[in-house]
Amino acid sequence: MYLILLGAPGVGKGTQAKMLMKKNDIPQISTGDILRSEVADQTELGLRAKEIMARGELVSDDIILGMVENRLSMPDCKKGFILDGFPRTIPQAEGLDVLLEKMNILNLKVIEIYVPQEELVRRLTSRRICANCGKDYNISVKPLPPGGKCERCGGDIIQREDDKEATIKNRLQVYQELTAPLVSYYQGKGNLHRVDGKKSVDSVFDNIEKILLARGQ
Ligand code: AP5
Repeated sequence: MYLILLGAPGVGKGTQAKMLMKKNDIPQISTGDILRSEVADQTELGLRAKEIMARGELVSDDIILGMVENRLSMPDCKKGFILDGFPRTIPQAEGLDVLLEKMNILNLKVIEIYVPQEELVRRLTSRRICANCGKDYNISVKPLPPGGKCERCGGDIIQREDDKEATIKNRLQVYQELTAPLVSYYQGKGNLHRVDGKKSVDSVFDNIEKILLARGQ
């Protein structure tokens, strides 16, 4: 299965990608997670990306394409992969087309998850993550564990720098300007499917699975 999960910040791409990864035993490739780990490791790329991400803007296409090309060349991608948060611009989508052609991958599917904007702001302002293992907590669903420590690894639970309300607004605007045009891009290629992301996590997952099964995955 070769899949892109497309959608605005907070629609649930990461949540669904992790579930699909477990069920299908193929990697989730999140450019956001790769960048956050570069930031945490204070690499040269991480130092450059940190401020851009904190403002809710996009890291340059050539950096992202290099990063993705490197990741897709790893052996665990041979059976398939789920792209989460990539591509995010038309040049990234065109770059991906070139990579897929080189890899002889013809059956890429794209699923757009859509959620109304006010719900996105609610989900993102109430999201917290473990600074160590990345586990997701959402205080609108459940209070944090005692002491604010992760129940999986004991790490500190924090708010993502870009989950502050002003930055969320910018991320949503950047999505509309630079990423939303990908919907028409993939519609034009005939491989776009849409899923209502406002339903429960399990129901969104079932609907994604139905699309994948209907298409012979
Ligand atoms: P990235 O990490 O990709 O962030 P994003 O796209 O903004 O996505 P999020 O992780 O915020 O949301 P999501 O859709 O994955 O939702 P989630 O499942 O977490 O990118 C961060 C930054 O890195 C970018 O702004 C940019 O600077 C840079 N970057 C990354 N990729 C790049 C690229 N390709 N090019 C250039 N720059 C790039 O869910 C959100 C919350 O909602 C969670 O708390 C979750 O529990 C909850 N939730 C999920 N599903 C449901 C549901 N069905 N009902 C209720 N709550 C739900």
